[in-house]
Amino acid sequence: MAKYLVTGVGGFIGRSIAAELLARGESVRGIDSFITGRRANLVGLEAMEFQEGDLADPAACARACAGVDTVFHEAALASVPRSVVDPVATNVNCVDATLNVLVASRGAGVRRIVFAGSSSAYGDTPTLPKREEMLPNPISPYAAAKLAAEYYMRSFARVYGMETVVLRYFNVFGPYQDPGSTYSGVLAIFCRKMLAGEAPTIYGDGQQSRDFTYIDDVINANLLAAAAPAEKVAGQMMNAATGARYTLRETFDILKDLTGFKGEPVFAEARTGDIRHSHADISLARKLLGYEPKVSFREALRRTVEWYKNGA
Ligand code: UD1
Repeated sequence: MAKYLVTGVGGFIGRSIAAELLARGESVRGIDSFITGRRANLVGLEAMEFQEGDLADPAACARACAGVDTVFHEAALASVPRSVVDPVATNVNCVDATLNVLVASRGAGVRRIVFAGSSSAYGDTPTLPKREEMLPNPISPYAAAKLAAEYYMRSFARVYGMETVVLRYFNVFGPYQDPGSTYSGVLAIFCRKMLAGEAPTIYGDGQQSRDFTYIDDVINANLLAAAAPAEKVAGQMMNAATGARYTLRETFDILKDLTGFKGEPVFAEARTGDIRHSHADISLARKLLGYEPKVSFREALRRTVEWYKNGA
């Protein structure tokens, strides 16, 4: 019987959490529908029990949660612009699916659920860094959906006493992130293009900034959230980030150095639903989890570029 369930295990964050659990000798089950997850991401995870299934289907959720102690709920239709094009699909995969996972987890007696929340919940409020007690201000349907799912997590902690923990991720990047879609994360796209000698596109003036978070730090935050005492973390929500921000232009310049790309970016109109600056205060995760980001931005970008060069 698997101790851990990772939803969205075909996606890059789910895949990376599952790999780390397996490396620690844990028993792991993974589920993915491959709407955006990739079968290629399961290579190396052969020791995992895999179920192909859609979390919008309650029966698939029940099968996935049976006998499990801890769920890492990473499955989502990630992407702000995708949600602007198709808000219903985002709702089904981010809200309905999360509610189904919660109901199934409760039915199966799951001890703890660690949920992938999103920094997009903060929206475009001017105060930086973002602290958890700030009022959310979702702009895109994606942000609204991720926030609704967060509230379901908290509600299930309060009314059913379940140990739910929300980690609000800030622009996660690293090996295995899919670079191949217009909805991909910016750093994956930039790495792929610049390594191929193609100019990447910057939407807006490039002065927007993000608290880019390396995948290893996100894995660490998840494992800490799964293991922390319930008195500290059950029903809580906290930022999982680096606690620093870089503009897109600065990031482009570092990548230029790392990839050897010689050109300049192409500039295009800013994206609808985009926010200007994103920067996390990570003191709550430090306090509740003992979380500390370990990899510098440049080193994280270097490892990421190496991966796209060799492994992608
Ligand atoms: C948002 C969330 C993030 C979440 C992600 C899911 C915020 C602050 N962040 O990311 O936590 O994980 O959605 O998809 O809301 N860009 C370019 N060129 C490109 C692609 C993107 O310039 O080719 C720009 C975008 O306009 C944006 C920035 O890069 O300003 C980051 O975009 P992206 O990587 O898509 O993530 P967010 O929308 O910031």
